Amino acid sequence: MKDLSPKKSDLEAIEVASRDEIMAIQLERMKWSLRHAYDNVAMYKKRFDDAGVHPDDLHDLKDLAKFPFTYKNDLRDNYPFGLSAVPREKLARIHASSGTTGKATVVVYTKNDIDVWATTLARSLRASGLRAGDMVHNAYGYGLFTGGLGAHYGIEKLGASVVPMGGGQTDKQVGLITDFQPNGIMVTPSYMLNILEGFHKAGIDPRSSSLEVGVFGAEPWTNSMRKQVEDAFDMHAVDIYGLSEIMGPGVANECVETKDGLHVWEDHYYPEIINPVTGEVVEDGEEGELVFTTLTKEGMPMIRYRTRDLTRLLPGTARSMRRMEKITGRSDDMIILRGVNVFPTQIEEQLLGTGGLAPYFQIELYKSGHMDAMRVFTEATPDAADEASKAAAARMLTKRIKDMVGVSTEVVVGDPGSAARSEGKAVRVIDNRNKG
Ligand code: DLL
Repeated sequence: MKDLSPKKSDLEAIEVASRDEIMAIQLERMKWSLRHAYDNVAMYKKRFDDAGVHPDDLHDLKDLAKFPFTYKNDLRDNYPFGLSAVPREKLARIHASSGTTGKATVVVYTKNDIDVWATTLARSLRASGLRAGDMVHNAYGYGLFTGGLGAHYGIEKLGASVVPMGGGQTDKQVGLITDFQPNGIMVTPSYMLNILEGFHKAGIDPRSSSLEVGVFGAEPWTNSMRKQVEDAFDMHAVDIYGLSEIMGPGVANECVETKDGLHVWEDHYYPEIINPVTGEVVEDGEEGELVFTTLTKEGMPMIRYRTRDLTRLLPGTARSMRRMEKITGRSDDMIILRGVNVFPTQIEEQLLGTGGLAPYFQIELYKSGHMDAMRVFTEATPDAADEASKAAAARMLTKRIKDMVGVSTEVVVGDPGSAARSEGKAVRVIDNRNKG
């Protein structure tokens, strides 16, 4: 793999500023953001008043802990534009996520917000090893999802060219990558595995492709998956994190030279880790739920938004800004099986370490008598698709999950092509526990 480390001179000054400088900017911006939310959004005024706090009570970054949290339901309750802090004519963009239950959550941006977003995304791409003059194939979905357009504006801001492919049509993706020779790709890691399969189907060696770096996010993925993709394409695989409520992709990103967790662009998005049960802020280094406060967002400021993503904060390495560890999972995706907490990423890790299995899987939860039970559906690789090999792989994965994760599961190994494929964010868990 090529050394893609960016030159220090290409970085923004703030990326390598001292912690004191960063914290001074954060404090100034946090005061502005609390005031902006309080003065312009009825929900924040009421929440702060009810909690007996006022934006003037913030003297230190730690004082943020006095302010109330914001939840996903607050966006639903204020559908569509109740949390907007600016008049309608100041809006430049609207995005929304359908969600699996209930009303869509809507997020709004001013022109300045779009510019900040593009700037932090361009910063993410630079950290990933991309630069002006590069070409990036963008397979994140366009439309109301923030992935496609968010990445698109960031690629342009970097000075690179963008191929606005969007999701789906795997054969066409492979054709365009082969013909246009982009050196970067942006896509969910689970969909990248479909693209990999597309290369194999077309009889093209993925290692001969022009791709040098993939910027993968929008869903949890493991270091084992990183290795799988890096080996298959002979390219760097870098993690990008973000969420619509805070901005979209590019809230945090790994650096290609270290790949040791994601630097949070904390001059715009202020992170805290809390104990999800008590709501108390925990020290850096301790695991908990990630909470974000926007520091510069005009259209829809978010104060202490509970992401439900589980991680911990670590000191900066390649940049001065703090890192968040690769996300284990969302608290919503946590499976509790006979008292043991299980995340789909733990299953992914064990599966990728088992010979004879392709990297596609889905987990089914069901009732066995009164007990919850779990079944993993995956498939054999073409060279290990006979019945004896499938049975051996199933036994091996069952054992690894029992030994390493601590739960008993049934593993079903189907023929090549039989496991569910993802076209964007993978659906990892099917919950059939309440179905007769
Ligand atoms: O998924 C934004 C995005 C697009 C990020 C493209 C990266 C690349 P939402 O649809 O609002 O926004 O979903 C946000 O996805 O709270 C996490 O649970 C999950 N997520 C996003 N990035 C990562 C990642 C976009 N790198 C939710 N690792 C977040 C793990 C991620 N989970």
